[in-house]
Amino acid sequence: MTTQKRILTGDRPTGRLHLGHYIGSIKARVELQDQYETFLIIADLHMLTTKNSKDDIARVDENARQMVLDYLACGIDPEKVTIYLQSAVHETYELNTLFQNMVTVPRLERLPSLKDMARAAHKEEMPYGLLGYPVLQAADILLPRAHLVPVGKDNLAHVEITREIARRFNRMYGDVFPIPEALVPETGTLVGTDGQAKMSKSLNNAIMISDDAKAVRKKVFSMFTDPNRIRSDIPGRVEGNPVFIYHDTFNPNKAEVEDLKARYRRGAVGDVEVKEKLTIAINNFLDPIRERRAVFEADSGFVDEVIYQGTLHTREVARETIIAAKKAMGLTGVWNRISRRAERRRKRLAKAS
Ligand code: TRP
Repeated sequence: MTTQKRILTGDRPTGRLHLGHYIGSIKARVELQDQYETFLIIADLHMLTTKNSKDDIARVDENARQMVLDYLACGIDPEKVTIYLQSAVHETYELNTLFQNMVTVPRLERLPSLKDMARAAHKEEMPYGLLGYPVLQAADILLPRAHLVPVGKDNLAHVEITREIARRFNRMYGDVFPIPEALVPETGTLVGTDGQAKMSKSLNNAIMISDDAKAVRKKVFSMFTDPNRIRSDIPGRVEGNPVFIYHDTFNPNKAEVEDLKARYRRGAVGDVEVKEKLTIAINNFLDPIRERRAVFEADSGFVDEVIYQGTLHTREVARETIIAAKKAMGLTGVWNRISRRAERRRKRLAKAS
C-alpha cells in the first residue's frame, strides 16, 4: 500500500461559507481529495481567540453543520475526507503547548493578520491566545503531519510560522515533522460585491454558497462596478471591476465574457446586461451545489456522523504524532524513569513489610 501524503486545512465554524471561501480554498480541496489523504478541521479553538462567549460557543454545532453542508455540497466526499472538531482532539492542546516554545513573541507580534483580527473583534489589547493563533494552527497542521495546506492568501504567513516551527523542532529534537507547503490560489483573493479587497460575511459583501437564485440576483444587481460610468454609453473600466472579476471566475463562456468586456470598454453595453449574464453564470455554477446540499441536508444526523467518525479517526492519528514528538524531546523518557523509580520503591516497600 502506498501511503498518500496528507492535506490539513479548514475553517473556523462561524457559519455558512461564501464564494470567497470556495475560490480561496474549497475548490483546491475538492480537486486534491483523491491525491491526498485530507483532514478538514472545524477550528473552534481558533474561533475562541476572538469569540468566546457562551453564546458564541452554543452556536458552534449549528455553524459547523452549515459549514460542513457547504463542503459536501461543493463536492467534498465524506467517504474520502476526514472532517473533525478541533476542540475534541485533545492532542491539539498538547502539541500547541509544546510548540509555544519554538517561536518568539516579536515574530508573532509582527504579523498583520493578528492585528487585523484583534481590530475586527474590537479588542483594544492583543489577547494572549490570539497572539498564539498561528502556533495553534501549526499544531493543527503538524498533528497529522500534513505536507500540503490549501489556504487563502491571508493564511500564508501562518503556514510560514508552521514551517519555522517544524524546522526548529526537527533541528532541536530530531526529524518528526515534514515541512508543509502552503497552496494559495493563483487567482488571488476574491473581491467583495462592494469592490472591497475581500469577500466577508461581516462586511455584508458576500454571496453565500447556500444563497438561492433570487438572493444571488439581488446581490449581483447591487454590485459595485465602475463608479465613473454613470451612463451605459460611457466607456468603462474592466480591470479591477468586480463584475468582470466575477465573470472571469464564474462564467465558463469565455467568448461571452470577452464580448461584454469589449462592449463595456467602448460604452456599448448596459450594466443590466452584464449583471444579468453574471447572475445566470453564478446560478448555473451554484445549481448542482444547491442540489447536493439539499440531499445531504435531508439526511438528518448525517453531518454529525461524519464529524463524529472524523474526530475519532483524527484522535488516533494525532496520538501517534504526540507519542513521536514527546519521545523525540525526551519527555517520554523523563516520565518513564520517574514511574520506574516509583514502582521500584513500591516493590521494595512491599517486600520489606
Ligand atoms: N486560520 C484559518 C481561518 O482563517 C482556520 C484554520 C485553523 C486553519 N487551523 C488551520 C486553516 C489549519 C488551515 C490549516 O479560519
